[in-house]
Order: sequence, then C-alpha cells, then structure tokens
Amino acid sequence: MNKTKELKCLIAGGAGFVGTNLARRLLEQGASVDCADNFSTGRKSNVADLARYPKFRFLKLDIADAASCNRLLRRRYSHVYNLACPTGVPNIALLGEEMLMASSLGSLNLLKVARRSKAKYLFASTAEAYGDPEIFPQPESYVGKVDPVGPRSPYEEGKRFGEALTRFWGRKHNVDVRIVRIFNTYGPAMSPDDQRVVPQMLSRLIAGKPVPIYGDGSQTRTFLHVDDLVRGLLTVMEKGEGAEVYNIGGATQITIRELFELVKTATGLLGKAVFEKHFIADHRGRWPDTTKIQALGWRQQVALADGIRQSHRDLLASIEARRVTKTAPQVKRPALVERRPAGPDQQWQTLP
Ligand SMILES: NC(=O)c1ccc[n+]([C@@H]2O[C@H](COP(=O)([O-])OP(=O)(O)OC[C@H]3O[C@@H](n4cnc5c(N)ncnc54)[C@H](O)[C@@H]3O)[C@@H](O)[C@H]2O)c1
Repeated sequence: MNKTKELKCLIAGGAGFVGTNLARRLLEQGASVDCADNFSTGRKSNVADLARYPKFRFLKLDIADAASCNRLLRRRYSHVYNLACPTGVPNIALLGEEMLMASSLGSLNLLKVARRSKAKYLFASTAEAYGDPEIFPQPESYVGKVDPVGPRSPYEEGKRFGEALTRFWGRKHNVDVRIVRIFNTYGPAMSPDDQRVVPQMLSRLIAGKPVPIYGDGSQTRTFLHVDDLVRGLLTVMEKGEGAEVYNIGGATQITIRELFELVKTATGLLGKAVFEKHFIADHRGRWPDTTKIQALGWRQQVALADGIRQSHRDLLASIEARRVTKTAPQVKRPALVERRPAGPDQQWQTLP
C-alpha cells in the first residue's frame, strides 16, 4: 500500500491494543498518525512505544466530549478509524455508561471530524452485535439475538447504535463510511491485566495462578491474530464498499477448554484451570462468516499456536518492563510534555 505516504490518519482509541498495532503498521508505511485516547482501557506504554515515530502525534481526549473533539476539527485527515470504546466483559459493569457514550456521542463527534476532512471513516463494531447467536457461522445479514436491557447491553447495544448512526449519518451527510464487526482478537500490546481470555490465561499461567474457565468451558470462540485484524481493517478501509458491514475474525471454532490446552502446549507453561460460574450471561458461541471480506482479497494468515507463542513473549516483556519501572528509583518529571509550541495545535501532547 504505497499510497500511505500521503495518508493522514486519525485513530481514536489509539492507545489500546488494536489501535497501537494499527498505528504502528501505518507509521511503518509512511503515514502520519494522530492517536486520540482517554486511557480508559488503553496504556500509556503503548503510546510511549509509538512516540519514537516522527509522524506520530498523541492527543489525550474523550471522544464523547464534543468540545474536546473541536481540536480534531482543526486537523485534516484522509482516514478516520473509530476504535475508541472501553473493552473487556468485566468492564461492562464498571464502564457501561462510558461504552454507551463512546459508541453514540463519540461516534457522532468523529463522524463530524470525517465529514469536515472529507475523510474515509471506519467504525469498529463487534461480534457481540450478534448477541447470543442462533445461527453458525454468522453472516453480516444476521440481525442477532440481543437483549436490549441485558447485563451485556451497554457494550452490545452501544455498538449496534454506533453501527446504525454510522450508516445513517454517512448516507445523510455523504461521508464515506464502513463498519467492521470484529471477532475475538489477540496479540502483542495487550496488557497483562487485560481480562480477555488469551491474555488472562497467559498472565495467570505465567504468575503460577489457576486459570478461571467459566461454565464447563464448552462455549466456542474463534481467535484472530492482531496482524490479521490490522490487514483486515486496512483492506476494508481501502477496498470495502461504502456503508457496508464486514465481519473480521478467525476461521476455526475452538472451545475455551481446548484453548486452555493449546495455550499450555504452545508455550510450555504449566497450570490448572478452575471451573467457575460465569459472572455474566455468556454466549454459547461465535463464528464469523468471512465470505464478504475474503472477496476483497483478505485471508487469515497467522496460526493460533504461533500467535499465542508471540503473545506469551510480549506479555513476559511487559511484565518485566513493569517490574523494572517499579524497582527503579523514582525520578520526578511531568506526566505529559507538550511537543509543539503554543498555537492552534498546543493541545497536542506526547508522553515523556
Ligand atoms: N480486540 C478484540 O478482540 C475486539 C473484538 C471486538 C471488537 N473490538 C473493538 O475494537 C476496538 C478496539 O479494541 P481493543 O481490543 O484495542 O480494546 P482496548 O480497550 O485495548 O482499546 C480501546 C481504546 O479506546 C480508548 N477509549 C475508550 N473510550 C474512549 C473515549 N471515550 N475517548 C477516547 N478513547 C477512548 C481506551 O482507552 C482504549 O485505549 C474497540 O472499539 C472494541 O470494541 C475489539
């Protein structure tokens, strides 16, 4: 994708797991990348890693706050990736309102940014838009089975609202939009504290702690390495049809019990599982029909065992970096340093 040399991208949620991997990929291809994030579930260390690229800019802001997003209206973008939303099932109880606001008000604010810039816009939705599905695999035409007031509804209905707004607003205001429904993804730049299943299994095995498996572990998921997801996002952004929805996810269903065994075999880690009652209504399975994105030329490439070995190495490095930071003598310095002189862009900040 040589054209990225002229690209000026905004990634909302750029301090998060997917945003960081997408930003790195675009920066390595010569694009300019602005990341906007409020660190609700993102990591400062992810931003610090990206700060070495000269064409990277970070802005700490809440996309649900219209006044903060006025700053973004002053910039010009060719592409807007809206990945900003708190994630993680345990966070639904804690950050449910923030999930709803990011997907509704936040989406509206970013759609306005895209309209102002005449930028292409991508909304990151989720497999959870299908709820607890009744058909397998799930094609994009499946409308799902979602309880609008169920315990998962802040995430699920927030994303469904975000999809509706994206499609409606895009057509009404002639913004070139597309939507992706992302299925479980894993890989480098996940936090050791991330409660999603792959980092949680790895972190607990590394710490020598038992791994919780909810229910009997027969529920299925598919898993996609983040490099494959990033290629999928770029493919949909460049080749996807306007206002269309595309599933992106792994091809093979695996039960959580099988995943646990695979994680141990792939990494050599030893440990036990403890079977627990789920703290929230769980979905029996998820399996994307990826015919539509495959027609754009996308294919899953990274094998699960290889990806898990890489995630294991990345988590070990994160845990070691955290240990070193904790034990190093504390040097007092400002939390954020302005990179640019005062002026219209004075809010642009980067981490020390
Ligand atoms: N990783 C997956 O398996 C997966 C699956 C389905 C959907 N998704 C979607 O993809 C996107 C990225 O997911 P991720 O895995 O990187 O999660 P993540 O939690 O690591 O990243 C989300 C980022 O958004 C930021 N954010 C949240 N609310 C914000 C706000 N109001 N303003 C600015 N920033 C805000 C967070 O601080 C975080 O950095 C999310 O929208 C998520 O719903 C991810």
